[in-house]
Amino acid sequence: MTTREQRKDEHIRLALSHPVTQSSFDGIQLVHRSIPAIKRSDISLETQIDSLTLNFPLYINAMTGGSKWAGEINRKLAIISRETDIAMAVGSMHAALKNEELIPTYRIIREINPHGKVFANIGADVPLSSAARAVDMLTADALQIHLNAPQEVVMPEGGRDFSDWLTNIEGIIRSVDVPVIVKEVGFGMSAETLEQLRGIGVQIVDVSGRGGTNFIYIENERRPQKDQSYLSEWGQTTSVSLLESQPFQQEMTILASGGIQSPLDAIKSIVLGAKAAGLSRAVLTEVETNGLEAAIQLIETFKAHMIDISLILGARNINELHQVPYVLSPELESWQRQRNLKERSK
Ligand SMILES: Cc1cc2nc3c(=O)[nH]c(=O)nc-3n(C[C@H](O)[C@H](O)[C@H](O)COP(=O)(O)O)c2cc1C
Repeated sequence: MTTREQRKDEHIRLALSHPVTQSSFDGIQLVHRSIPAIKRSDISLETQIDSLTLNFPLYINAMTGGSKWAGEINRKLAIISRETDIAMAVGSMHAALKNEELIPTYRIIREINPHGKVFANIGADVPLSSAARAVDMLTADALQIHLNAPQEVVMPEGGRDFSDWLTNIEGIIRSVDVPVIVKEVGFGMSAETLEQLRGIGVQIVDVSGRGGTNFIYIENERRPQKDQSYLSEWGQTTSVSLLESQPFQQEMTILASGGIQSPLDAIKSIVLGAKAAGLSRAVLTEVETNGLEAAIQLIETFKAHMIDISLILGARNINELHQVPYVLSPELESWQRQRNLKERSK
């Protein structure tokens, strides 16, 4: 097994044994209304991600590929995605771009789900030609580019040169003919990052914030001295990241992931302006602990409950969810004030 394959398996193992933290969405209260004035059959949560239409605003976010175990997990995730009709991303495809023998551990998701919405995934440092190859390998509907600087720094064998990421992303956007989603991996985003991304023409962003999978925890566990746990609160939570994204929501499509633990978290992320919510570790844990049927049931329950919550909010669609009034905790309100986010969005 190569170092890369070994790392993939360690990531899965550590994600499965990872502690669960309090939801960052607890700081947001949706305002109840006693007369919702709609019926359940009025509701359609179909959503538009640039040129891509998703039947439901939920997707399985990037996790894996590149080892035997990862391939088996991708097979199961693809079945979940097909059976529940939600989109799915694969994990970083660097392994397949470097070693053709590993291509089947990713391509399996297209084989299992030929008509589903599938996202390819690469890092911001891959050459332009590899970006197009990654898309072709899966006949992908979109390409995710992940940003993971803190993970690289804590990863013992990680990269230390991020100087060409921005120009490289700009080149990739020009060279592929599917929508490009720039995503974090659980450290969230700031208005400054979104400004940089908008400046090079990025249209779709997944803020993927802190509050769920924590790659500082995971990589620190892989360090011989385990000496960087003090960084484990690094980054913005998903709810803070969504507040940071509000000034950009007219021009950019914002997606939410990172610690979405319940259907209510997913709805709150949409109320804060996201067009869809992504789940990673929640699905991984369910499928690896309780099996395929249980994981399919988890997604079906998410879908049904997200419609139930939309019903009591009186929201028939994503646009109406974006109008739902909410109140922020003192901590979130203070962040919003100190960062002048309300003023910026005017
Ligand atoms: C085991 C595992 C592997 C991951 N690998 C990738 C990856 O290769 N590329 C990527 O963009 N994100 C990767 N992620 C990050 C997720 O896509 C997501 O941004 C993050 O886990 C936050 O979502 P969560 O809290 O629902 O897990 C991985 C997550 C997990 C749990």
